[in-house]
Amino acid sequence: MDNKQQSSIGVRRRRYRRIALWSMLLMVSLAMLLPLGGYLYVGIQQAGAQAVEQTNPRSNMWRTVRDGNAGYTAVSGAESGVLIQNGQNWRQLRNGPIANYGGWVLLGVLVAIALFFAIRRSVRIDGGRSGVRIKRWNAFERTVHWSTATLFMILTITGLSMLFGRVVLIPVLGLSGFSAWAELAMALHNYLGPWFGGLVVVMIVMWMRHNIPNATDFKWFTKGGGIVGRKHPDAGFMNGGEKVWFWFICTVGVVVIAGGLVMNFPNWGFSRGEMQLANMVHSVGAMAWIALWFGHAYIGTVGTEGALEGMTTGYVDENWAQQHHNLWLDEVKARESGAARGVARDATTVVKGSPA
Ligand code: HEM
Repeated sequence: MDNKQQSSIGVRRRRYRRIALWSMLLMVSLAMLLPLGGYLYVGIQQAGAQAVEQTNPRSNMWRTVRDGNAGYTAVSGAESGVLIQNGQNWRQLRNGPIANYGGWVLLGVLVAIALFFAIRRSVRIDGGRSGVRIKRWNAFERTVHWSTATLFMILTITGLSMLFGRVVLIPVLGLSGFSAWAELAMALHNYLGPWFGGLVVVMIVMWMRHNIPNATDFKWFTKGGGIVGRKHPDAGFMNGGEKVWFWFICTVGVVVIAGGLVMNFPNWGFSRGEMQLANMVHSVGAMAWIALWFGHAYIGTVGTEGALEGMTTGYVDENWAQQHHNLWLDEVKARESGAARGVARDATTVVKGSPA
């Protein structure tokens, strides 16, 4: 064997030894690592499980409950299995757009009325009072009107306290002061509401016959109703504006009252969704009613000289009647000329005319 052959045998042996060594190392490594694969597998499994459970299982349960899902309960009744009905949408609507827009509309109407009064001032009786008084409202009508108006004002104050109290009254009364007032306001609102509803029904029945729309009302509107502009258009016992107020009460007013009753009597079996809807309809309608009432109260007091005394004493001045309800005055005079011929007319004389 020459030197060349010997060196090539040496190279091959070293290579075999290296291969053997690496193979041994690989086998030893695998023998050590493979058992660890079990731990790796379990570790991955646990990490996955943890990822799934990252949200607290209790939170998941309450999230399901909050979504309005029904669970089991032994209590029987409408929706008794639903622990939390999704009232969040209602809450956001009520505290958001309804309260915001409603509040601004009410303030806007007050400002508009104040501006209107600043420009137009009170509509005076043309030529002053005549001293002759005409019967316009009987005692029953005035009692119903002022009872309704008194309850309306209490309901307005207490209702608005509930809607805007947190924002407007807590800074003024403090937390405990507001809490005491809110409790009283709510009790007054809940207990007086149904009585108010009953009186409104009486008012509707009592004055329906005066409020049937006719062509005169249409003309009254086209001429601006006497309050816009200086001319006083023809009007019967009720003018077009009063009829709008009356029919508003018959429609929107009745819906507001119905919504209040739905909330007042949950024992009638309404669902929470129905009561939330009733609450929104009630609040929106009530604010529209209050806005219109601002106008009614303005026209009935400082806006028109001589109107309020009609509703307080039952009698209006003849010149007031001529100016605002001339067609009605003609009817009264026609009736009186037959029935009360010869009645002296001086400052103390009362000409009795039935509005009927
Ligand atoms: C401070 C509050 C109020 C004042 C000063 C007031 C004033 C008046 C006056 C002066 C009249 C007589 C108008 C005329 O002779 O033509 C009247 C009529 C009337 N009031 Fe009031 N009122 C008030 C509140 C209310 C409320 C809250 C309601 C209803 C909820 C109401 C409903 C009516 C109705 C229906 C009429 C008859 C007019 C018609 O049928 O269209 N009033 N009011």
